[in-house]
Amino acid sequence: MIALKEILKQVDSLLAGTNADGSEREWIACEALGIKRGALPLVREVSEEQAKKMIDYARERATGRPLWQVFGYAEFCGMRIEVGEGVLCPRPETEELVERAAAYCCPGVKALDLCTGSGCIAIALAKTGADVTASDISERALEIAARNAEANGAKVRFLLSDIWENIDGRFDVIVSNPPYIPTEQIASLDREVRDFEPHCALDGGEDGLKFYREIAKGLAAHLEEGGILLVEMGAEQGEAIKAMFAPFGEVKIVKDIEGRDRIAAVRICGKN
Ligand SMILES: C[S@@+](CC[C@H](N)C(=O)[O-])C[C@H]1O[C@@H](n2cnc3c(N)ncnc32)[C@H](O)[C@@H]1O
Repeated sequence: MIALKEILKQVDSLLAGTNADGSEREWIACEALGIKRGALPLVREVSEEQAKKMIDYARERATGRPLWQVFGYAEFCGMRIEVGEGVLCPRPETEELVERAAAYCCPGVKALDLCTGSGCIAIALAKTGADVTASDISERALEIAARNAEANGAKVRFLLSDIWENIDGRFDVIVSNPPYIPTEQIASLDREVRDFEPHCALDGGEDGLKFYREIAKGLAAHLEEGGILLVEMGAEQGEAIKAMFAPFGEVKIVKDIEGRDRIAAVRICGKN
């Protein structure tokens, strides 16, 4: 057995040249030991195999690869979601989008997740019993999303589609976390994101709003009267998105826990 603090010192020196935050050494230790974080302070010694795992994770993280790609999965809405180079790692702020969308979902409701990536939103919504369809332009993302749905026991219909291209019919709830970073800002993103996450999951065109415009184009044909659209967006995009969707109904901009605009909820005017 080897003292944990000795291995943590080696992990720290491997992570020193990266912008890993202070908690990552602990995530690495917990992943290698197969324990929850609360239990870590109780661990004094690790086996050689566990120590090797910790060092291997830290070495890979030191290449700049984000930690969740190193582990191959992320936690999202209490689920384990496989992530890899072909998909965006689900972000905690997207859990808020799911929570709001789930409030409208139940058996009998038809929901659509555009730009599904790892499938994280669609899978969480399917847990409500809603009838969920999800689409993406990336075949690689859809392969991972289908595996995630199966692993999490969720029934989701996945479609390869360039936004509305292959989407038929109408939905009660439409959700999307589309790419929304203005093209010229991609080069200045953190290395972890810029070099390891797929640019097609990030690049929202010249002003970052390209995908919202595309969503708006098909909304009248695909959202039921009285239905709701919920989209995630960048912190600077609230006003532009509000103006873009105002012709469809009531638009509410919701802030994230840091007080930045994060979600737009568009309630389509219904008859009842
Ligand atoms: C920001 S990621 C969101 C992934 C996931 N929904 C999440 O919240 O973590 C955006 C996704 O949009 C997909 N995408 C990019 N262009 C697209 C298009 N023209 N039509 C459909 N999906 C597209 C990307 O492949 C990527 O999976």
